[in-house]
Amino acid sequence: MKVTIKYLLLVLSCYFTTFLISCKGNQIANLNRLIESRKSPHPESWALLNDQEDSHNSPVYVGSQKGMMQSDKINALPGQPEGVDFDQYAGYVMVDPIADRALFYYFVESPQNSSDKPLVLWLNGGPGCSSLGYGAMLELGPFRVNKDGKTLYRNEYAWNKVANVIFLESPAGVGFSYSNDSSDYTKVGDKRTTKDSYVFLINWLERFPQYKRRDFFITGESYAGHYVPQLAYYILSRNKNTNQTVINLKGIAIGNAWIDDAICMKGMFDYLWTHALNSDETNEGINKYCNFVSEDSVSKKGDGDDNTIQCGKYLSQGFREMGFIDLYDIYAPQCNLSAIKPGSNGNIMNFDPCSGFHVKSYLNLAKVQAAFHAKATKWSGCSSVGWTDSPMSVLPEIRNLSREIRVWIYSGDTDGRVPVTSSRYAIKTLELPVETAWRPWYSNSEVGGYVVGYKGVVFTTVRGAGHTVPSYQPERALTMITSFLHGKLPPDVSPF
Ligand SMILES: *[C@@H]1O[C@H](CO)[C@@H](O)[C@H](O)[C@H]1NC(C)=O
Ligand SMILES: *[C@@H]1O[C@H](CO)[C@@H](O)[C@H](O)[C@H]1NC(C)=O
Ligand SMILES: *[C@@H]1O[C@H](CO)[C@@H](O)[C@H](O)[C@H]1NC(C)=O
Ligand SMILES: *[C@@H]1O[C@H](CO)[C@@H](O)[C@H](O)[C@H]1NC(C)=O
Ligand SMILES: *[C@@H]1O[C@H](CO)[C@@H](O)[C@H](O)[C@H]1NC(C)=O
Repeated sequence: MKVTIKYLLLVLSCYFTTFLISCKGNQIANLNRLIESRKSPHPESWALLNDQEDSHNSPVYVGSQKGMMQSDKINALPGQPEGVDFDQYAGYVMVDPIADRALFYYFVESPQNSSDKPLVLWLNGGPGCSSLGYGAMLELGPFRVNKDGKTLYRNEYAWNKVANVIFLESPAGVGFSYSNDSSDYTKVGDKRTTKDSYVFLINWLERFPQYKRRDFFITGESYAGHYVPQLAYYILSRNKNTNQTVINLKGIAIGNAWIDDAICMKGMFDYLWTHALNSDETNEGINKYCNFVSEDSVSKKGDGDDNTIQCGKYLSQGFREMGFIDLYDIYAPQCNLSAIKPGSNGNIMNFDPCSGFHVKSYLNLAKVQAAFHAKATKWSGCSSVGWTDSPMSVLPEIRNLSREIRVWIYSGDTDGRVPVTSSRYAIKTLELPVETAWRPWYSNSEVGGYVVGYKGVVFTTVRGAGHTVPSYQPERALTMITSFLHGKLPPDVSPF
């Protein structure tokens, strides 16, 4: 049997999931399954794929949205704290009436002057993970779930301080989003995800017409490193070609983003070595024997099983050497469910590694699902959706987008899974000239991270943040995203 690198990662990844909701369903286990299942070694660029069904010209489905904004309004979420001073909405948007396929969203407006603030779409990755369970409930949303799994507390660094934020569960089969055609769950991929998200937006803007001309930004993390540039690309192309609502897209920001298979893999093992998690011998062995570019085997120059076996040996050694740590935040404590003491409330500045379990309990309460206007479902954070298309790289799209709209790539620097090295290697291949040299930026008198401004792309780190950046560094993440929305580099005022 041929041992492939993707197979090894697939098997090994289950050791390294902690706060994530379950071993079988987390953002990276899904990604590993996807990479493993790929057939073609070098799929063409996503944007250039010939798509017979979609000319980018023909109008898309638009349903009547009359009265739906009012009926989507949430009175109150069960267990929410006192003094909620903003409007929240949730519900379904039909994207294909023949298949009966609908996407679920949760929308939070800004408490003050919401009509002056931009509209932001947030997407989590996987593929197959929920933007409600991750993004809204344990990253940048207005509430987090207490240890009791029943009550909420306020996140004072929520991104709806500076924007009106839509969390979209995508594609159908993820979270509360559904299809009545079960083949939609087994035959989905980047292209359908993009098109459905676009149809969602066109219909959502009919339901909330006051947002039609608003400045619009798309943000997301992990495998949304695919979704976000692809959706942006599709919107710009549709804006030019269709007699449909023009979406006023101004920019994208992607965090710890999976944008190129080979580069992300290489960056990960270099990160493990440079962060004192792997030995010199292991890193030398990996560099000598593994070829991350070759799809079907790990052998260098394709000759012989010996290199494959050697590579596999060093990869396993690398995983063994790092021990039982949380690869998504290498310095974080592990979740120990039996150590949870009832009664104590959560604290936004101290991320609870068991948060995923609390979210899962909360979103499975019948009264919570009813309050969200969701169909009664067994909700889970990540689902196994069968992925059929995914290019190995979205760098060609990112390069072109950077000529038209604002592009930020940010990285929590304690994530070992899609680490800062991977983002840096990827940006390097774009060969963009530096306009603002690497410098620190500040948030609450501390270095919040580092930033470098390239022509067309801003790269910024968030210091002390893991894979889900706002979970670990909510205040720094808010400073970063505020700067992004204002089109300014994060503040460089040193307090000293
Ligand atoms: C809301 O807008 C008004 C008028 O532009 C401004 O005076 C006020 O400071 C704003 N409030 C907040 C909280 O941004
Ligand atoms: C869902 O699919 C079933 C079987 O194909 C069909 O009988 C039913 O009418 C569909 N429901 C809706 C709401 O489309
Ligand atoms: C574009 O849409 C408008 C309004 O719906 C319609 O009046 C017009 O005929 C359409 N033009 C084309 C070329 O489809
Ligand atoms: C988890 O917490 C319990 C109760 O505090 C403790 O007895 C146990 O040793 C802990 N387990 C681990 C793996 O830390
Ligand atoms: C990017 O733009 C160039 C020049 O306009 C074009 O030749 C190329 O096909 C574009 N790439 C993609 C992926 O669209």
